[in-house]
Amino acid sequence: MSTGALERIAPLAYAQVDEEREVSLKQEIRRLASARKALILAHNYQLPEVQDVADFVGDSLGLALEAQKDPRETIVFCGVHFMAESAKILNPGKKVLLPSLAAGCSLSDSITADSLEDWKQRYPGRAVVTYVNSSAEVKAQSDICCTSANAVSVIRSLSQQKILFTPDRNLGRWVARQVPEKDIVIYDGCCPTHDVLRGTQVGAGKRQRPDAVVIAHPECREDVLALADEVCSTTGMLAAVARHPEAKTFLIATEWGLVHQLKKRFPDKTFIVADGCIGCRLHCPYMKMNDLESVLRCIREDRFEIRVHPEVASRARIALERMMAVPRDR
Ligand code: 13P
Repeated sequence: MSTGALERIAPLAYAQVDEEREVSLKQEIRRLASARKALILAHNYQLPEVQDVADFVGDSLGLALEAQKDPRETIVFCGVHFMAESAKILNPGKKVLLPSLAAGCSLSDSITADSLEDWKQRYPGRAVVTYVNSSAEVKAQSDICCTSANAVSVIRSLSQQKILFTPDRNLGRWVARQVPEKDIVIYDGCCPTHDVLRGTQVGAGKRQRPDAVVIAHPECREDVLALADEVCSTTGMLAAVARHPEAKTFLIATEWGLVHQLKKRFPDKTFIVADGCIGCRLHCPYMKMNDLESVLRCIREDRFEIRVHPEVASRARIALERMMAVPRDR
């Protein structure tokens, strides 16, 4: 028995699955997906084995574009709820399925239609730019959406000078520094997965590996971004690694799921995921709610289907479609 000291159970690979079972689940998922003509989309933070069964793996913007481009009528969205909801809003005639309804997003939950209304009343007359990590109701009350891949271009595309940016304060501050000519008021939400990381931890990592290139997601705090050589969306990080062909080691300040794509594209490089807490890589529990079992059940049983109230959807679609017309930041 422990005498009071904090003990840790022996570390296991995350969601370790029996290898044979994994192979047969993957085969069955692919077989059913082609029989039912279903498109499987996976975000870069999904479990590696879930990324492996997807037709397309990408960042929020890439997934939204793919959902529109692909002719298949059924989309199995391996991501979190707001992403599947955006796919449904942009493709009202398609069936959009989310493998686990527990795959939420606490950043998205940090803003409601009422709290946005409150901020709009406090700061009247501002163009409302809302990060896609938000509900359909919040998007419906916004002028335009953005992702981490196009936030700067979205703000620059607006004729208005005064902006209300919601809900991520870290992304908002970073964008405000890129576009100093705009007057931007920023809502007070954050992504806890990224917000736990501090500049002191990244600084310590840099001291251990001075040769490492630091790549950070703009949902990280200002003190982390100040130490980054590159700040970009998850898919943008793949292009960022390619911009440093001489570098061997990269310190990655985002959720560990991305490393699967990085290792596939750049097998000779070393990727170190920043620690948010002692010995704990940045980890989003919501993104890990979809596993192979739930993906299979999702295709087999046609659940969980995402539905959005048509009146809310038609207003949210305007904000999303305005965003889709703006190119990626780079
Ligand atoms: P990306 O759009 O960069 O993939 O990021 C999505 C997200 O939710 C980050 O926490």
